[in-house]
Amino acid sequence: MKIGFFDSGIGGLSVLHHAMKILPEEEFIFFADEDNVPYGTKPREEVLALVESAFEFLVAQEVGAIVVACNTATSVAVRLMRAKYSLPIVGMEPAIKLALDLFPARKVLVTATEITITGEKIQALIDRVHAREFAELKALSELVEFAERMEFNSPAVEKYLRAEFAAYDFSEFSSVVLGCTHFNYFKDTMRKILPPHVKLLDGNAGTLNYLIKLAGLQTSPVKKIPRVEYFYSGRRVTSEKELAQLEKYLRRLDEMYEVS
Ligand code: DGL
Repeated sequence: MKIGFFDSGIGGLSVLHHAMKILPEEEFIFFADEDNVPYGTKPREEVLALVESAFEFLVAQEVGAIVVACNTATSVAVRLMRAKYSLPIVGMEPAIKLALDLFPARKVLVTATEITITGEKIQALIDRVHAREFAELKALSELVEFAERMEFNSPAVEKYLRAEFAAYDFSEFSSVVLGCTHFNYFKDTMRKILPPHVKLLDGNAGTLNYLIKLAGLQTSPVKKIPRVEYFYSGRRVTSEKELAQLEKYLRRLDEMYEVS
């Protein structure tokens, strides 16, 4: 099946990277809205309009399913997109349920963009998984800009994260939930700063399991690089320079894959 993966930028590549490993027999279209990233600090109506045009583009490519590999776009628009289109649409969900399943009754620091943190969807999730007493929310919007600049583990990234995490007593927390797909590029720096017992949890496996179920796909152990077409805001990525950059992001994700 041809599956569309969509993000405001390069964060969604982390979900696609995982999909390429477990679903090598499928075909993928990756749409990064590079002309409009970041979404997380924009007004919600503006993000909704951008998601609508990305969906129009992907549906015109005759994809059989769409993964909204962006927590921010999921928060703003996934319900509306499901009402508008009949194909399987899978969004991101910050891994709060996973955190509480693994570490019952322990505090969880949920990191995401401004829009996700302040949206109704995350409040509904917190209620649904009975996390009211345990989930603390923290926006780390600048990580999106760092990721887009390919600045993954510089002193500036470390300084930013140390400052943002300084207010928390991590002896009380079991885990940090990465509720933005761009944050997957920073697992090593977070690991360096956080105490060893604090686990880093992303929503990639959960999203892909749901995709597999909803679209009736089969995982495969075959080692094969699937066909992927890359688009930046509707423009096909063909230049050697941009393809080499995408390759560099994928290699970074290889390095971060096992970090938890
Ligand atoms: N990657 C997106 C997410 O998962 C958001 C990044 C942005 O602010 O554009 O929320």
